[in-house]
Amino acid sequence: MSKELPVVRQANAYDAASIARLIHRSHTISFAPFALEEWVGSRDIEEYRSKWQSVFDTAGDNEDTYVATLDDTVVGSVRVAQLQSSEFDAQLVGMHVEPGLTGRGIGSLLMNRAKVFIEEQGFSRVELGVIAANTGTRRFYETHGWLLVRELADGVEGVPVVIYELGPGRYAALADRHAEHSASKQRTLHDTES
Ligand SMILES: CC(C)(COP(=O)(O)OP(=O)(O)OC[C@H]1O[C@@H](n2cnc3c(N)ncnc32)[C@H](O)[C@@H]1OP(=O)(O)O)[C@@H](O)C(=O)NCCC(=O)NCCS
Repeated sequence: MSKELPVVRQANAYDAASIARLIHRSHTISFAPFALEEWVGSRDIEEYRSKWQSVFDTAGDNEDTYVATLDDTVVGSVRVAQLQSSEFDAQLVGMHVEPGLTGRGIGSLLMNRAKVFIEEQGFSRVELGVIAANTGTRRFYETHGWLLVRELADGVEGVPVVIYELGPGRYAALADRHAEHSASKQRTLHDTES
């Protein structure tokens, strides 16, 4: 295990192949228990590469991709993209951490950076989709303030997915919750000291 700390930075076209490789591995390993077997077995790494190359080739001002690196290797990714839909104006996609390095805070670093971008852009309704049975990841999103909108019977992975949203009122709610949390932590500290 590396002694370096993960670093989050804006991604660029040179990262396309690394992001493709990471997400292909994460779909193969981390999605296997939840996705349809045919879907897991049908994916081609070349398609991932060309998809991510075209993401950077056509990137606009209202979208951004971030990577987490460890010893200069890409170990995590997330992307916020503008969305032309009547309900949502942006979407969070491509949230993946290298299988084997999950549960160490890398996803949270990426999520925090994506949220800064969302606030900077002034997006008012942002959505994401996740496989309904992927309860660990759902807990991760819920911890980060995402609220369940609805369940869809069939997603791209051939299984039910759930849609979450991070709306404008949520920032205030989140800030309140953090303030409450640190106030109660300070109270506990004070209680212990006195
Ligand atoms: C979801 C994901 C990006 C989170 O990144 P991470 O670096 O693992 O997350 P962090 O370490 O910052 O946060 C960990 C928290 O996430 C939740 N979590 C995420 N995956 C989990 C799992 N498989 N089992 C249990 N909890 C999980 C837990 O709440 C955990 O908090 P805890 O340790 O206090 O219980 C990462 O686990 C991942 O790549 N998962 C597989 C791919 C995936 O599902 N991507 C989302 C596509 S929609």
